[in-house]
Amino acid sequence: MKIIVVTGATRGLGLAISRQCVDDGYRVVAVGRTLSSGLDALICKHPEQVVFERYDFSDTIGIHAFALHITKTWGRPWGLVNNAALGNDGVLATLHERDIGALIRVNIEAPILLTKYLLRPMLINSAGRIINVSSIIAATGFNGLSVYGATKAALAGFTRSLAREVGKANITVNTLAPGYMETEMTLALQGDKLESIKRRTSLGHLATVTDAAFAVSYLLSEHAANVTGTTITVDAGSTA
Ligand SMILES: NC(=O)c1ccc[n+]([C@@H]2O[C@H](COP(=O)([O-])OP(=O)(O)OC[C@H]3O[C@@H](n4cnc5c(N)ncnc54)[C@H](OP(=O)(O)O)[C@@H]3O)[C@@H](O)[C@H]2O)c1
Repeated sequence: MKIIVVTGATRGLGLAISRQCVDDGYRVVAVGRTLSSGLDALICKHPEQVVFERYDFSDTIGIHAFALHITKTWGRPWGLVNNAALGNDGVLATLHERDIGALIRVNIEAPILLTKYLLRPMLINSAGRIINVSSIIAATGFNGLSVYGATKAALAGFTRSLAREVGKANITVNTLAPGYMETEMTLALQGDKLESIKRRTSLGHLATVTDAAFAVSYLLSEHAANVTGTTITVDAGSTA
């Protein structure tokens, strides 16, 4: 069974991706800080296919050892989905330096380090899939999300150069750019703001985590063998 490491798999998009990976017949190493009831239910239903590995990505020093532990315990991964992220918002002038540091650490440094160390077993296999979860905000911008947007743009840049670096080893690297999806990260956006986001989509409604998980499923599959260094946007036409 091919192994997919999904970070931020306890809820929201990461949990939806984990469910989709189970449906697609992969074994999922689901990473997060707290085992949620949703992920626990998935593990109970598919104990052979899903395992939970606790890790806090604000501890960037431990990522090397964590990646070695994953490979040693579960085997060389076929895929890595860098999905875990913080969504701290706030206007830059008053955003606390601590929040800025945490966003950069968890949203940029951690996925880069995890990719570095899980890339090695993929290079040995001469095969693999890396998917970096960015956001349409990376390109469009959003009031109050300048640092978050910077981290998401960084991941898209990371994707493009890394795709060039590892393509000859038969490893693809792509970016998923979701539009607004209703998860815990976006709970604060309600009422008029939410309605105006919906109105600005081409389709008149929001894309869901399930829609975005299907795009990941495609990128992980053999059908996407010749797709690399690109961004797949799933936003119900927000950016059309
Ligand atoms: N929701 C949207 O509208 C939207 C739009 C565009 C892009 N995105 C992107 O989609 C991805 C998933 O977002 P979401 O909406 O599903 O967010 P969410 O509901 O807030 O879930 C975030 C996930 O990341 C994990 N996580 C956060 N900090 C972590 C840390 N320090 N160490 C380990 N795990 C950590 C959380 O797990 P624990 O709490 O268990 O650690 C959780 O599983 C993110 O990359 C986000 O930027 C979301």
